[in-house]
Amino acid sequence: MNVLLLGNGGREDALSWKITQSPLCQNLWIAPGNAGTKRYGTNVDLSITNFTGIRNFIETNDIQLLIVGPEAPLCEGIVNDLANIPELKIIGPDKEAAKLEGSKAYAKAFMQKYGIPTASYKAFTKENQKEAHDYILSHALPIVLKADGLAAGKGVLILNDHEEALKEFNNMIEGKFGDAGARVVIEEFLDGIEYSVFALTDGKNYKLLPTAKDYKRIGEGDQGLNTGGMGSVSPVSFIDDVLMKRTIDEIIEPTINGIADAGLNYKGIVFFGIINVEGAPKVIEYNCRFGDPETQSIVPRINIDLLDLFDAVGTDRFNDFEVTISDDYSCSVVLVSGGYPEKYEKNIPISGLDQVEGAKVFHAGTKVEGTQILTNGGRVMAINSVAATQSEALNSCYENAKKIQFEKSYYRKDIGFDL
Ligand code: AMP
Ligand code: GLY
Repeated sequence: MNVLLLGNGGREDALSWKITQSPLCQNLWIAPGNAGTKRYGTNVDLSITNFTGIRNFIETNDIQLLIVGPEAPLCEGIVNDLANIPELKIIGPDKEAAKLEGSKAYAKAFMQKYGIPTASYKAFTKENQKEAHDYILSHALPIVLKADGLAAGKGVLILNDHEEALKEFNNMIEGKFGDAGARVVIEEFLDGIEYSVFALTDGKNYKLLPTAKDYKRIGEGDQGLNTGGMGSVSPVSFIDDVLMKRTIDEIIEPTINGIADAGLNYKGIVFFGIINVEGAPKVIEYNCRFGDPETQSIVPRINIDLLDLFDAVGTDRFNDFEVTISDDYSCSVVLVSGGYPEKYEKNIPISGLDQVEGAKVFHAGTKVEGTQILTNGGRVMAINSVAATQSEALNSCYENAKKIQFEKSYYRKDIGFDL
């Protein structure tokens, strides 16, 4: 099979690593990829939202499977755009179904319709600003304000003061997050611990993939600014059989049944961001693709041929496919460039990669110049280790993280601290 994978993060490097272990994989191309994905396939200099370029590439290179890593192409309708290419299978939902991630108001309405537990909410625009103000003023604190659209992980504000909330609501509808904030979801604050569940669906059936927890804040003890993710662990030790059963019965199955009932064209990953509120699971958000850096930890625990599973989506084989998952712990620690998630430098030489032992390095913001690997982004790479216990896996990550050097590198030393 000829495969094209879109994206350039650690998620895509981990997927490349896994996909090329499959005997079904003839050729893998990654657009645009990074210095790591070159180890497994061929990088293609194409933007992930250049649908015409992607179509030409697919037709020229006889691609049979397109895997969409990030959400932007999905929300912009890549699945609709490429739908008429014969014999092409795409892993990812179409534009309407991708609204489960791309519009928080759409996702909330979906959850309400199908009785899926989530924070109580109301959605407002400039047209009903007065109502929004009344809603805010009578709402308990803290109160959560969310820009409806994609806002690069910055569109959620948790506020402890009514006046502040009014001000931020006004900022949002006045364009603080561009068009993404033209509609604002105002919701109840949920207090609990978060975890992520991943399922692959064909729009009717689903297969569970490993659970994970990510660490979004830049600082230890979950302090400081939000990032794309500073590390992840899989499995999540507090998800016992009781919590998992409730998660499946109350969230996963009603969501997949809702997708089927609504007739959504969804052949891809559903990423459930869930919060455990005193034993009751509630949805914080849906994403329509794999998580980053969750993927770096979950993929090494998937014991079956993931490419074969992707290939089975949309066929009779899918429902009978047995997905086996390793009992091992898999942990990933992300090395970032100093200053991230704010201003940081690029093009810093990286050394020590050849010293890594008993762990894998999944590249993210890296590139190659000659024989030198340089930084090319804020999140530079993730060290992943798999072991029988979480602490063994983390120790190995940290032993190896010390060996990789680039100027002003930083990583959190407390991934998994709360588990
Ligand atoms: P989101 O962009 O929806 O993933 O939200 C970003 C982060 O904000 C989540 O990972 C949570 O930590 C937090 N968050 C979002 N909604 C709520 C809520 N209703 N209650 C508490 N925390 C929330
Ligand atoms: N790690 C969170 C995400 O991928 O959205």
